Amino acid sequence: MISSAELKKRYLDFFQKRGHKIIPSASLIPENDPSVLFTTAGMHPLVPYLLGEPHPHGQRLCNVQRCIRTVDIDEVGDAWHLSFFEMLGNWSLGGYFKEEAIALSFEFLTKELKIPTERFSVTCFEGDRDAPRDEETARIWAELGVAKNRIHFLPKADNWWGPAGETGPCGPDTEMFYHVKDIQEKSTEEFLKLSSTGPFVEIWNDVMMQYNKTADGKFEELKQKNVDTGMGVERMVAVLNGADNAYACDTLAAILDRVISISAPATAKTNRNARIVTDHIRAAVMVLGENKGVVPSNVDQGYVLRRFIRRAIRHARIIGIRGEFCNELAKVVIDVMGDSYPELRKNRARIFEELEKEEEKFSVALENGTKLLERELQLLEGSHQKILSAKSAFDLFQSFGFPLEITAEMCKEKGFSVDKEGFDSLMKAHQDLSRKGAEQKFKGGLADHSEETTKLHTATHLLNEALRQVVDPSIHQMGSNITKERLRFDFNYDKKLTDDQIKRIEDWVNDAIKAEADVSFAMMSIEEAKKQGAQGVFEAKYEKVVKVYTVSKGDRVYSREVCGGPHVKNTRELHHFKITKQEAVAAGVRRIKAVVE
Ligand code: SER
Repeated sequence: MISSAELKKRYLDFFQKRGHKIIPSASLIPENDPSVLFTTAGMHPLVPYLLGEPHPHGQRLCNVQRCIRTVDIDEVGDAWHLSFFEMLGNWSLGGYFKEEAIALSFEFLTKELKIPTERFSVTCFEGDRDAPRDEETARIWAELGVAKNRIHFLPKADNWWGPAGETGPCGPDTEMFYHVKDIQEKSTEEFLKLSSTGPFVEIWNDVMMQYNKTADGKFEELKQKNVDTGMGVERMVAVLNGADNAYACDTLAAILDRVISISAPATAKTNRNARIVTDHIRAAVMVLGENKGVVPSNVDQGYVLRRFIRRAIRHARIIGIRGEFCNELAKVVIDVMGDSYPELRKNRARIFEELEKEEEKFSVALENGTKLLERELQLLEGSHQKILSAKSAFDLFQSFGFPLEITAEMCKEKGFSVDKEGFDSLMKAHQDLSRKGAEQKFKGGLADHSEETTKLHTATHLLNEALRQVVDPSIHQMGSNITKERLRFDFNYDKKLTDDQIKRIEDWVNDAIKAEADVSFAMMSIEEAKKQGAQGVFEAKYEKVVKVYTVSKGDRVYSREVCGGPHVKNTRELHHFKITKQEAVAAGVRRIKAVVE
Protein backbone atom coordinates (compact mmCIF):
# COMPACT_ATOMS: atom_id res chain seq x y z
CA MET A 1 0.00 0.00 0.00
CA ILE A 2 1.30 3.45 -0.84
CA SER A 3 0.42 6.36 1.46
CA SER A 4 -0.18 10.00 0.48
CA ALA A 5 3.00 10.97 2.31
CA GLU A 6 5.01 8.48 0.27
CA LEU A 7 3.51 9.54 -3.07
CA LYS A 8 4.19 13.21 -2.27
CA LYS A 9 7.77 12.45 -1.34
CA ARG A 10 8.42 10.35 -4.44
CA TYR A 11 6.94 13.01 -6.68
CA LEU A 12 8.94 15.87 -5.17
CA ASP A 13 12.16 13.79 -5.17
CA PHE A 14 11.63 12.84 -8.80
CA PHE A 15 11.22 16.44 -9.95
CA GLN A 16 13.89 17.79 -7.64
CA LYS A 17 16.35 15.35 -9.21
CA ARG A 18 15.35 16.76 -12.56
CA GLY A 19 16.22 20.32 -11.69
CA HIS A 20 12.97 21.52 -10.08
CA LYS A 21 12.95 23.59 -6.89
CA ILE A 22 10.33 22.67 -4.30
CA ILE A 23 8.12 25.59 -3.30
CA PRO A 24 5.68 25.60 -0.35
CA SER A 25 1.92 25.21 -0.55
CA ALA A 26 0.24 28.60 -0.56
CA SER A 27 -2.72 29.29 1.72
CA LEU A 28 -6.20 28.17 0.65
CA ILE A 29 -7.22 31.84 0.85
CA PRO A 30 -5.55 33.63 -2.08
CA GLU A 31 -3.42 36.69 -1.43
CA ASN A 32 -4.16 39.73 -3.54
CA ASP A 33 -6.57 37.94 -5.81
CA PRO A 34 -10.16 39.10 -5.59
CA SER A 35 -11.28 37.03 -8.59
CA VAL A 36 -11.57 33.68 -6.78
CA LEU A 37 -12.46 32.75 -3.22
CA PHE A 38 -10.06 29.85 -2.84
CA THR A 39 -6.81 28.57 -4.26
CA THR A 40 -8.09 26.08 -6.82
CA ALA A 41 -4.81 24.80 -8.27
CA GLY A 42 -1.07 24.93 -7.76
CA MET A 43 -0.68 27.38 -10.62
CA HIS A 44 -2.86 29.95 -8.95
CA PRO A 45 -0.27 31.58 -6.66
CA LEU A 46 2.15 31.46 -9.59
CA VAL A 47 0.10 33.64 -11.93
CA PRO A 48 2.46 36.67 -11.82
CA TYR A 49 5.37 34.38 -12.73
CA LEU A 50 3.45 32.67 -15.51
CA LEU A 51 2.92 36.14 -16.93
CA GLY A 52 6.65 36.86 -16.89
CA GLU A 53 7.72 38.14 -13.45
CA PRO A 54 11.00 36.37 -12.58
CA HIS A 55 10.60 33.71 -9.88
CA PRO A 56 13.25 33.61 -7.13
CA HIS A 57 13.67 29.86 -7.67
CA GLY A 58 14.13 30.02 -11.39
CA GLN A 59 12.24 28.31 -14.19
CA ARG A 60 11.56 24.82 -12.83
CA LEU A 61 9.31 24.45 -9.81
CA CYS A 62 7.26 21.75 -8.11
CA ASN A 63 5.09 21.44 -5.00
CA VAL A 64 2.10 19.99 -3.18
CA GLN A 65 -0.70 22.57 -3.10
CA ARG A 66 -3.81 22.37 -0.95
CA CYS A 67 -6.87 23.27 -3.05
CA ILE A 68 -10.61 23.85 -2.73
CA ARG A 69 -12.98 23.59 -5.66
CA THR A 70 -16.68 24.13 -5.30
CA VAL A 71 -17.74 23.96 -8.95
CA ASP A 72 -18.28 20.20 -8.67
CA ILE A 73 -19.81 20.29 -5.21
CA ASP A 74 -22.96 18.52 -6.40
CA GLU A 75 -20.85 15.61 -7.56
CA VAL A 76 -19.06 15.18 -4.25
CA GLY A 77 -20.15 11.82 -2.87
CA ASP A 78 -19.45 9.95 -6.10
CA ALA A 79 -16.24 7.96 -6.47
CA TRP A 80 -13.82 10.69 -7.49
CA HIS A 81 -14.99 14.27 -6.88
CA LEU A 82 -13.72 16.12 -3.81
CA SER A 83 -14.11 19.71 -2.66
CA PHE A 84 -10.76 19.80 -0.81
CA PHE A 85 -7.80 17.94 -2.29
CA GLU A 86 -4.04 18.05 -2.50
CA MET A 87 -2.46 18.65 -5.86
CA LEU A 88 1.02 17.69 -7.00
CA GLY A 89 2.37 20.07 -9.61
CA ASN A 90 5.46 20.78 -11.64
CA TRP A 91 6.01 23.97 -13.62
CA SER A 92 8.20 25.31 -16.34
CA LEU A 93 8.25 29.11 -16.44
CA GLY A 94 9.45 29.77 -19.95
CA GLY A 95 11.78 26.74 -19.85
CA TYR A 96 10.84 23.30 -21.17
CA PHE A 97 7.62 22.92 -23.12
CA LYS A 98 5.49 20.12 -24.56
CA GLU A 99 8.16 17.57 -25.42
CA GLU A 100 9.89 17.50 -22.05
CA ALA A 101 6.75 18.05 -19.96
CA ILE A 102 5.01 15.03 -21.45
CA ALA A 103 8.18 12.91 -21.29
CA LEU A 104 8.52 13.77 -17.57
CA SER A 105 4.91 12.83 -16.87
CA PHE A 106 5.30 9.59 -18.80
CA GLU A 107 8.51 8.69 -17.00
CA PHE A 108 7.04 9.39 -13.57
CA LEU A 109 3.95 7.30 -14.27
CA THR A 110 5.54 4.35 -16.03
CA LYS A 111 9.05 4.18 -14.51
CA GLU A 112 8.68 5.65 -11.04
CA LEU A 113 5.15 4.44 -10.27
CA LYS A 114 5.36 1.50 -12.67
CA ILE A 115 1.92 2.01 -14.17
CA PRO A 116 1.72 -0.10 -17.33
CA THR A 117 1.14 1.91 -20.52
CA GLU A 118 -1.84 -0.36 -21.23
CA ARG A 119 -3.61 1.12 -18.20
CA PHE A 120 -3.96 4.61 -19.54
CA SER A 121 -5.48 6.83 -22.20
CA VAL A 122 -4.72 10.45 -22.96
CA THR A 123 -6.64 13.38 -24.42
CA CYS A 124 -5.48 16.35 -26.51
CA PHE A 125 -7.07 19.63 -27.61
CA GLU A 126 -8.95 19.32 -30.92
CA GLY A 127 -8.57 22.98 -31.88
CA ASP A 128 -10.98 25.86 -32.49
CA ARG A 129 -10.85 29.48 -33.58
CA ASP A 130 -8.78 30.49 -30.52
CA ALA A 131 -6.01 27.92 -30.90
CA PRO A 132 -5.01 25.15 -33.34
CA ARG A 133 -5.45 21.38 -32.98
CA ASP A 134 -2.66 20.01 -30.80
CA GLU A 135 -1.14 17.44 -33.18
CA GLU A 136 2.27 17.89 -31.58
CA THR A 137 1.10 16.60 -28.21
CA ALA A 138 -0.55 13.58 -29.82
CA ARG A 139 2.65 12.82 -31.73
CA ILE A 140 4.72 12.98 -28.54
CA TRP A 141 2.39 10.54 -26.77
CA ALA A 142 2.45 8.17 -29.73
CA GLU A 143 6.24 8.25 -29.85
CA LEU A 144 6.38 7.41 -26.15
CA GLY A 145 4.32 4.30 -26.85
CA VAL A 146 0.68 5.21 -26.22
CA ALA A 147 -1.49 3.37 -28.76
CA LYS A 148 -3.11 5.69 -31.32
CA ASN A 149 -6.62 4.49 -30.50
CA ARG A 150 -6.08 5.69 -26.92
CA ILE A 151 -5.18 9.24 -27.85
CA HIS A 152 -8.41 11.25 -28.07
CA PHE A 153 -9.01 14.76 -29.36
CA LEU A 154 -11.60 16.79 -27.45
CA PRO A 155 -12.91 20.38 -27.53
CA LYS A 156 -12.17 23.30 -25.22
CA ALA A 157 -14.74 22.19 -22.66
CA ASP A 158 -12.54 19.16 -21.93
CA ASN A 159 -9.02 19.98 -23.03
CA TRP A 160 -8.34 23.55 -22.11
CA TRP A 161 -7.36 24.80 -18.69
CA GLY A 162 -7.68 28.17 -17.09
CA PRO A 163 -7.68 30.94 -16.40
CA ALA A 164 -8.19 30.35 -12.69
CA GLY A 165 -10.41 33.44 -12.38
CA GLU A 166 -11.88 35.47 -15.23
CA THR A 167 -8.61 36.48 -16.81
CA GLY A 168 -5.05 35.23 -16.89
CA PRO A 169 -2.81 32.48 -18.20
CA CYS A 170 -4.42 29.46 -19.82
CA GLY A 171 -3.93 27.05 -22.68
CA PRO A 172 -4.61 23.67 -24.26
CA ASP A 173 -3.98 20.71 -22.01
CA THR A 174 -3.37 17.01 -22.26
CA GLU A 175 -5.00 14.83 -19.64
CA MET A 176 -3.97 11.37 -18.51
CA PHE A 177 -6.61 8.82 -17.51
CA TYR A 178 -6.00 5.67 -15.53
CA HIS A 179 -8.08 2.57 -16.31
CA VAL A 180 -9.32 1.33 -12.95
CA LYS A 181 -10.73 -1.70 -14.79
CA ASP A 182 -8.88 -3.31 -17.65
CA ILE A 183 -11.23 -2.15 -20.42
CA GLN A 184 -10.06 -0.96 -23.83
CA GLU A 185 -12.20 1.76 -25.35
CA LYS A 186 -13.07 1.42 -29.03
CA SER A 187 -13.82 5.05 -29.81
CA THR A 188 -13.69 8.55 -28.37
CA GLU A 189 -17.43 8.26 -27.58
CA GLU A 190 -16.79 5.15 -25.57
CA PHE A 191 -13.82 6.83 -23.86
CA LEU A 192 -16.07 9.73 -22.84
CA LYS A 193 -18.62 7.35 -21.37
CA LEU A 194 -16.02 5.40 -19.41
CA SER A 195 -14.32 8.52 -18.10
CA SER A 196 -17.54 10.12 -16.96
CA THR A 197 -18.90 7.06 -15.21
CA GLY A 198 -15.84 5.95 -13.26
CA PRO A 199 -13.64 3.17 -14.62
CA PHE A 200 -11.39 5.71 -16.36
CA VAL A 201 -10.24 8.41 -13.97
CA GLU A 202 -8.28 11.54 -14.76
CA ILE A 203 -5.04 11.44 -12.81
CA TRP A 204 -2.86 14.17 -14.27
CA ASN A 205 -3.19 17.24 -16.40
CA ASP A 206 -0.35 18.92 -18.30
CA VAL A 207 -1.39 22.41 -19.36
CA MET A 208 0.59 24.11 -22.11
CA MET A 209 0.11 27.65 -20.86
CA GLN A 210 0.74 29.81 -23.84
CA TYR A 211 -2.16 32.27 -23.79
CA ASN A 212 -3.41 35.08 -21.60
CA LYS A 213 -7.19 35.54 -21.55
CA THR A 214 -7.97 39.24 -21.33
CA ALA A 215 -10.96 40.95 -19.72
CA ASP A 216 -12.63 41.31 -23.15
CA GLY A 217 -12.41 37.56 -23.76
CA LYS A 218 -9.45 37.52 -26.16
CA PHE A 219 -6.65 34.95 -26.08
CA GLU A 220 -3.29 36.66 -26.47
CA GLU A 221 -0.08 34.67 -26.99
CA LEU A 222 2.07 34.90 -23.86
CA LYS A 223 5.63 36.15 -24.25
CA GLN A 224 6.70 33.23 -22.17
CA LYS A 225 5.54 29.65 -22.88
CA ASN A 226 4.89 27.77 -19.66
CA VAL A 227 3.93 24.32 -18.50
CA ASP A 228 1.56 23.86 -15.57
CA THR A 229 0.73 20.36 -14.40
CA GLY A 230 -1.55 19.03 -11.71
CA MET A 231 -2.10 15.57 -10.25
CA GLY A 232 -4.64 14.84 -7.52
CA VAL A 233 -2.98 13.08 -4.59
CA GLU A 234 -6.12 11.32 -3.34
CA ARG A 235 -7.01 9.89 -6.75
CA MET A 236 -3.49 8.74 -7.47
CA VAL A 237 -2.99 7.07 -4.09
CA ALA A 238 -6.33 5.30 -4.51
CA VAL A 239 -5.63 3.91 -7.98
CA LEU A 240 -2.10 2.87 -7.04
CA ASN A 241 -3.66 0.84 -4.25
CA GLY A 242 -6.04 -0.78 -6.70
CA ALA A 243 -9.14 1.06 -5.39
CA ASP A 244 -12.01 2.42 -7.44
CA ASN A 245 -12.68 5.57 -5.40
CA ALA A 246 -10.75 8.44 -3.82
CA TYR A 247 -11.99 7.65 -0.30
CA ALA A 248 -9.58 4.71 -0.24
CA CYS A 249 -6.74 7.25 0.12
CA ASP A 250 -5.39 7.24 3.69
CA THR A 251 -6.22 10.92 4.38
CA LEU A 252 -9.90 10.30 3.63
CA ALA A 253 -10.23 6.65 4.69
CA ALA A 254 -9.49 7.45 8.34
CA ILE A 255 -12.22 10.11 8.42
CA LEU A 256 -14.72 7.95 6.55
CA ASP A 257 -14.10 5.07 8.98
CA ARG A 258 -14.98 7.33 11.87
CA VAL A 259 -18.11 8.60 10.08
CA ILE A 260 -19.20 5.02 9.55
CA SER A 261 -18.52 4.04 13.14
CA ILE A 262 -20.76 6.80 14.49
CA SER A 263 -23.54 6.29 11.93
CA ALA A 264 -26.52 4.24 13.05
CA PRO A 265 -27.04 1.69 11.70
CA ALA A 266 -23.46 1.62 10.39
CA THR A 267 -23.48 2.55 6.69
CA ALA A 268 -21.42 1.06 3.88
CA LYS A 269 -18.15 2.68 2.79
CA THR A 270 -19.79 3.57 -0.52
CA ASN A 271 -22.67 5.45 1.11
CA ARG A 272 -22.98 8.85 -0.55
CA ASN A 273 -24.03 10.69 2.61
CA ALA A 274 -21.10 9.29 4.56
CA ARG A 275 -18.73 10.40 1.80
CA ILE A 276 -20.20 13.92 1.75
CA VAL A 277 -19.79 14.23 5.54
CA THR A 278 -16.18 13.05 5.19
CA ASP A 279 -15.30 15.42 2.37
CA HIS A 280 -17.09 18.45 3.78
CA ILE A 281 -15.78 18.18 7.34
CA ARG A 282 -12.26 17.83 6.01
CA ALA A 283 -12.72 20.89 3.77
CA ALA A 284 -14.22 22.90 6.64
CA VAL A 285 -11.36 22.01 8.99
CA MET A 286 -8.78 22.92 6.34
CA VAL A 287 -10.38 26.36 5.82
CA LEU A 288 -10.82 27.01 9.56
CA GLY A 289 -7.23 25.93 10.13
CA GLU A 290 -5.78 28.64 7.88
CA ASN A 291 -3.96 31.42 9.68
CA LYS A 292 -6.17 33.98 7.96
CA GLY A 293 -9.00 33.49 10.42
CA VAL A 294 -11.93 32.79 8.06
CA VAL A 295 -15.02 31.89 10.09
CA PRO A 296 -18.55 30.87 9.03
CA SER A 297 -20.55 33.85 7.74
CA ASN A 298 -22.95 34.81 4.96
CA VAL A 299 -20.34 36.18 2.55
CA ASP A 300 -17.39 35.03 0.49
CA GLN A 301 -15.18 32.27 1.92
CA GLY A 302 -17.12 32.36 5.17
CA TYR A 303 -20.30 31.38 3.30
CA VAL A 304 -18.65 28.48 1.51
CA LEU A 305 -17.32 27.34 4.87
CA ARG A 306 -20.79 27.62 6.39
CA ARG A 307 -22.24 25.54 3.54
CA PHE A 308 -19.62 22.81 4.06
CA ILE A 309 -20.50 22.56 7.73
CA ARG A 310 -24.27 22.79 7.34
CA ARG A 311 -24.36 20.32 4.49
CA ALA A 312 -22.20 17.91 6.49
CA ILE A 313 -24.66 18.18 9.39
CA ARG A 314 -27.64 17.46 7.19
CA HIS A 315 -26.01 14.43 5.55
CA ALA A 316 -24.87 13.17 8.95
CA ARG A 317 -28.48 13.20 10.20
CA ILE A 318 -29.57 11.12 7.20
CA ILE A 319 -27.23 8.32 8.26
CA GLY A 320 -28.34 8.45 11.86
CA ILE A 321 -25.53 10.51 13.38
CA ARG A 322 -27.15 12.26 16.34
CA GLY A 323 -25.92 15.00 18.63
CA GLU A 324 -22.71 16.93 18.15
CA PHE A 325 -20.17 15.14 16.01
CA CYS A 326 -18.17 17.77 14.08
CA ASN A 327 -15.37 18.03 16.60
CA GLU A 328 -14.94 14.29 16.88
CA LEU A 329 -14.35 14.19 13.13
CA ALA A 330 -12.25 17.35 13.20
CA LYS A 331 -9.83 15.61 15.56
CA VAL A 332 -9.36 12.83 13.02
CA VAL A 333 -8.81 15.42 10.25
CA ILE A 334 -6.18 17.21 12.32
CA ASP A 335 -4.48 13.89 13.04
CA VAL A 336 -4.24 12.83 9.41
CA MET A 337 -3.53 16.24 7.87
CA GLY A 338 -1.59 17.91 10.69
CA ASP A 339 1.88 16.68 9.72
CA SER A 340 1.58 18.28 6.29
CA TYR A 341 -0.25 21.39 7.49
CA PRO A 342 1.05 22.41 10.94
CA GLU A 343 -1.31 25.40 11.08
CA LEU A 344 -4.11 22.92 11.83
CA ARG A 345 -2.48 22.04 15.15
CA LYS A 346 -1.71 25.66 15.88
CA ASN A 347 -5.29 26.75 15.24
CA ARG A 348 -6.87 23.69 16.82
CA ALA A 349 -8.77 25.63 19.50
CA ARG A 350 -10.33 27.98 16.95
CA ILE A 351 -11.33 25.08 14.68
CA PHE A 352 -13.17 23.35 17.54
CA GLU A 353 -14.78 26.53 18.80
CA GLU A 354 -16.11 27.62 15.41
CA LEU A 355 -17.37 24.15 14.47
CA GLU A 356 -19.17 23.87 17.76
CA LYS A 357 -20.80 27.29 17.41
CA GLU A 358 -21.97 26.56 13.87
CA GLU A 359 -23.23 23.12 14.80
CA GLU A 360 -25.17 24.50 17.73
CA LYS A 361 -26.71 27.23 15.59
CA PHE A 362 -27.74 24.96 12.76
CA SER A 363 -28.83 21.74 14.47
CA VAL A 364 -32.12 23.10 15.86
CA ALA A 365 -32.74 25.22 12.75
CA LEU A 366 -32.27 22.14 10.56
CA GLU A 367 -34.94 20.24 12.45
CA ASN A 368 -37.47 23.08 12.46
CA GLY A 369 -36.74 24.12 8.89
CA THR A 370 -37.11 20.54 7.70
CA LYS A 371 -40.54 20.30 9.34
CA LEU A 372 -41.62 23.54 7.69
CA LEU A 373 -40.34 22.46 4.29
CA GLU A 374 -42.07 19.11 4.55
CA ARG A 375 -45.37 20.82 5.34
CA GLU A 376 -44.93 23.13 2.35
CA LEU A 377 -44.17 20.23 0.06
CA GLN A 378 -47.32 18.45 1.24
CA LEU A 379 -49.34 21.53 0.39
CA LEU A 380 -47.75 21.70 -3.04
CA GLU A 381 -48.45 18.01 -3.56
CA GLY A 382 -52.08 18.63 -2.64
CA SER A 383 -52.36 21.32 -5.28
CA HIS A 384 -50.47 19.24 -7.88
CA GLN A 385 -47.51 21.58 -8.07
CA LYS A 386 -43.93 20.52 -8.36
CA ILE A 387 -41.92 23.71 -7.82
CA LEU A 388 -41.13 25.29 -4.47
CA SER A 389 -41.43 29.07 -4.75
CA ALA A 390 -38.41 31.36 -4.50
CA LYS A 391 -40.05 33.06 -1.54
CA SER A 392 -40.31 29.82 0.44
CA ALA A 393 -36.69 28.94 -0.32
CA PHE A 394 -35.65 32.43 0.70
CA ASP A 395 -37.63 32.21 3.95
CA LEU A 396 -35.83 28.96 4.73
CA PHE A 397 -32.56 30.76 4.14
CA GLN A 398 -33.43 33.76 6.24
CA SER A 399 -35.21 32.11 9.13
CA PHE A 400 -33.44 28.76 9.32
CA GLY A 401 -30.12 29.41 7.59
CA PHE A 402 -30.76 26.84 4.83
CA PRO A 403 -28.33 27.43 1.98
CA LEU A 404 -30.18 27.05 -1.34
CA GLU A 405 -28.45 23.79 -2.17
CA ILE A 406 -29.76 22.15 1.00
CA THR A 407 -33.33 23.20 0.18
CA ALA A 408 -32.87 22.10 -3.44
CA GLU A 409 -31.46 18.76 -2.37
CA MET A 410 -34.33 18.10 0.05
CA CYS A 411 -36.86 19.02 -2.62
CA LYS A 412 -35.20 16.79 -5.18
CA GLU A 413 -35.26 13.82 -2.82
CA LYS A 414 -39.04 14.18 -2.68
CA GLY A 415 -39.50 14.78 -6.40
CA PHE A 416 -39.77 18.60 -6.33
CA SER A 417 -37.64 21.39 -7.76
CA VAL A 418 -36.95 24.96 -6.61
CA ASP A 419 -37.23 28.29 -8.40
CA LYS A 420 -33.48 28.91 -8.22
CA GLU A 421 -33.49 31.97 -10.45
CA GLY A 422 -36.16 33.60 -8.34
CA PHE A 423 -34.15 32.80 -5.23
CA ASP A 424 -31.06 34.41 -6.77
CA SER A 425 -32.94 37.64 -7.51
CA LEU A 426 -34.32 37.78 -3.98
CA MET A 427 -30.82 37.17 -2.67
CA LYS A 428 -29.41 39.91 -4.89
CA ALA A 429 -31.99 42.41 -3.73
CA HIS A 430 -31.29 41.39 -0.14
CA GLN A 431 -27.58 41.90 -0.46
CA ASP A 432 -28.15 45.40 -1.90
CA LEU A 433 -25.09 47.57 -1.54
CA SER A 434 -22.58 44.94 -0.56
CA ARG A 435 -23.52 43.15 -3.79
CA LYS A 436 -22.55 46.19 -5.78
CA GLY A 437 -19.11 45.79 -4.34
CA ALA A 438 -19.16 42.13 -5.27
CA GLU A 439 -19.82 42.80 -8.96
CA GLN A 440 -16.60 44.71 -9.19
CA LYS A 441 -14.81 42.21 -7.06
CA PHE A 442 -14.73 39.53 -9.71
CA LYS A 443 -12.67 41.44 -12.21
CA GLY A 444 -8.93 41.38 -12.38
CA GLY A 445 -7.18 39.10 -9.96
CA LEU A 446 -3.56 38.03 -9.85
CA ALA A 447 -3.45 38.31 -13.60
CA ASP A 448 -4.39 41.93 -13.37
CA HIS A 449 -1.17 43.83 -13.82
CA SER A 450 -3.02 47.03 -14.54
CA GLU A 451 -1.64 50.37 -13.48
CA GLU A 452 -4.29 50.71 -10.78
CA THR A 453 -3.63 47.40 -9.04
CA THR A 454 0.15 47.80 -9.34
CA LYS A 455 -0.08 51.15 -7.55
CA LEU A 456 -2.30 49.71 -4.83
CA HIS A 457 0.10 46.83 -4.41
CA THR A 458 2.92 49.24 -3.55
CA ALA A 459 0.57 51.27 -1.35
CA THR A 460 -0.18 48.07 0.57
CA HIS A 461 3.50 47.63 1.41
CA LEU A 462 3.68 51.19 2.68
CA LEU A 463 0.51 50.79 4.73
CA ASN A 464 1.86 47.57 6.25
CA GLU A 465 4.96 49.41 7.48
CA ALA A 466 3.04 52.53 8.53
CA LEU A 467 0.87 50.42 10.85
CA ARG A 468 3.96 49.14 12.61
CA GLN A 469 5.54 52.57 12.81
CA VAL A 470 2.45 54.40 13.99
CA VAL A 471 0.36 51.84 15.87
CA ASP A 472 2.23 48.76 17.08
CA PRO A 473 5.52 47.13 16.05
CA SER A 474 4.02 43.64 16.35
CA ILE A 475 1.45 44.22 13.59
CA HIS A 476 1.78 42.00 10.53
CA GLN A 477 -0.25 41.15 7.47
CA MET A 478 -3.04 38.58 7.88
CA GLY A 479 -4.50 38.97 4.41
CA SER A 480 -4.60 41.25 1.42
CA ASN A 481 -7.05 41.65 -1.44
CA ILE A 482 -6.63 44.22 -4.18
CA THR A 483 -9.05 45.29 -6.91
CA LYS A 484 -8.64 48.08 -9.44
CA GLU A 485 -10.66 50.32 -7.13
CA ARG A 486 -9.17 49.80 -3.67
CA LEU A 487 -6.79 47.85 -1.47
CA ARG A 488 -7.99 45.80 1.46
CA PHE A 489 -5.56 44.85 4.20
CA ASP A 490 -6.13 42.58 7.21
CA PHE A 491 -3.79 42.66 10.19
CA ASN A 492 -3.52 41.44 13.76
CA TYR A 493 -4.84 44.09 16.12
CA ASP A 494 -7.72 44.05 18.55
CA LYS A 495 -8.76 47.68 18.90
CA LYS A 496 -10.46 50.20 16.70
CA LEU A 497 -7.92 52.68 15.33
CA THR A 498 -8.49 56.23 16.54
CA ASP A 499 -9.02 59.11 14.08
CA ASP A 500 -5.64 60.41 15.09
CA GLN A 501 -3.96 57.08 14.32
CA ILE A 502 -5.68 56.91 10.92
CA LYS A 503 -4.46 60.41 10.11
CA ARG A 504 -0.89 59.56 11.17
CA ILE A 505 -0.88 56.37 9.11
CA GLU A 506 -2.07 58.33 6.06
CA ASP A 507 0.57 60.97 6.67
CA TRP A 508 3.31 58.34 6.99
CA VAL A 509 2.38 56.79 3.65
CA ASN A 510 1.96 60.18 1.97
CA ASP A 511 5.39 61.25 3.20
CA ALA A 512 6.88 58.18 1.54
CA ILE A 513 5.01 59.16 -1.65
CA LYS A 514 6.21 62.76 -1.50
CA ALA A 515 9.79 61.57 -0.91
CA GLU A 516 9.67 60.01 -4.42
CA ALA A 517 11.20 56.80 -3.12
CA ASP A 518 12.43 54.10 -5.50
CA VAL A 519 10.95 50.61 -5.54
CA SER A 520 13.34 47.81 -6.42
CA PHE A 521 13.66 44.08 -5.85
CA ALA A 522 16.43 41.59 -5.16
CA MET A 523 16.56 37.81 -4.82
CA MET A 524 18.12 36.69 -1.54
CA SER A 525 18.28 33.87 0.98
CA ILE A 526 15.73 33.76 3.79
CA GLU A 527 18.52 34.44 6.28
CA GLU A 528 19.59 37.51 4.36
CA ALA A 529 15.97 38.74 4.05
CA LYS A 530 15.48 38.33 7.80
CA LYS A 531 18.76 40.07 8.49
CA GLN A 532 17.64 42.99 6.39
CA GLY A 533 14.41 43.15 8.37
CA ALA A 534 12.09 42.18 5.50
CA GLN A 535 8.44 41.56 6.34
CA GLY A 536 6.85 38.35 5.18
CA VAL A 537 5.92 34.81 6.03
CA PHE A 538 8.99 32.76 6.80
CA GLU A 539 7.49 29.64 8.27
CA ALA A 540 7.39 27.87 4.91
CA LYS A 541 9.41 24.70 4.86
CA TYR A 542 11.04 24.81 1.48
CA GLU A 543 11.51 28.34 0.31
CA LYS A 544 15.24 29.01 0.42
CA VAL A 545 15.47 32.02 -1.87
CA VAL A 546 12.93 34.85 -1.76
CA LYS A 547 12.17 37.94 -3.77
CA VAL A 548 12.33 41.08 -1.63
CA TYR A 549 10.91 44.46 -2.63
CA THR A 550 12.43 47.55 -1.04
CA VAL A 551 11.00 51.07 -1.05
CA SER A 552 13.78 53.51 -0.27
CA LYS A 553 15.20 56.95 -0.83
CA GLY A 554 18.94 57.21 -0.27
CA ASP A 555 19.60 55.57 3.10
CA ARG A 556 16.01 55.82 4.26
CA VAL A 557 14.21 52.47 3.87
CA TYR A 558 10.43 52.90 3.96
CA SER A 559 9.50 49.28 3.50
CA ARG A 560 11.10 45.94 2.83
CA GLU A 561 8.88 42.97 2.12
CA VAL A 562 8.96 39.50 0.62
CA CYS A 563 6.62 39.63 -2.38
CA GLY A 564 6.13 38.41 -5.95
CA GLY A 565 5.30 41.86 -7.36
CA PRO A 566 4.58 43.69 -9.57
CA HIS A 567 5.13 47.20 -8.15
CA VAL A 568 5.52 50.76 -9.38
CA LYS A 569 9.05 52.01 -10.01
CA ASN A 570 8.77 55.11 -7.84
CA THR A 571 6.29 56.06 -5.10
CA ARG A 572 5.52 59.38 -6.85
CA GLU A 573 3.25 57.34 -9.16
CA LEU A 574 0.83 56.85 -6.24
CA HIS A 575 0.03 60.59 -5.90
CA HIS A 576 -2.02 60.45 -2.70
CA PHE A 577 -3.06 57.74 -0.24
CA LYS A 578 -6.34 57.71 1.65
CA ILE A 579 -7.95 55.28 4.10
CA THR A 580 -11.65 54.90 3.33
CA LYS A 581 -12.77 52.38 5.93
CA GLN A 582 -11.74 50.34 8.93
CA GLU A 583 -13.62 47.38 10.41
CA ALA A 584 -13.22 44.24 12.51
CA VAL A 585 -13.04 40.92 10.62
CA ALA A 586 -12.65 38.36 13.41
CA ALA A 587 -11.39 38.35 16.97
CA GLY A 588 -8.03 40.09 16.92
CA VAL A 589 -8.11 40.81 13.18
CA ARG A 590 -8.86 44.26 11.75
CA ARG A 591 -9.31 45.41 8.18
CA ILE A 592 -8.47 48.64 6.40
CA LYS A 593 -9.67 49.68 2.98
CA ALA A 594 -7.78 52.41 1.19
CA VAL A 595 -7.36 54.09 -2.20
CA VAL A 596 -4.74 56.06 -4.08
CA GLU A 597 -5.96 59.06 -6.05
N1 SER B 1 -4.01 23.88 -13.43
C1 SER B 1 -4.25 22.58 -13.95
C2 SER B 1 -5.34 21.86 -13.24
O1 SER B 1 -5.78 22.30 -12.23
C3 SER B 1 -3.00 21.77 -13.87
O2 SER B 1 -2.50 21.87 -12.60
O3 SER B 1 -5.78 20.83 -13.70
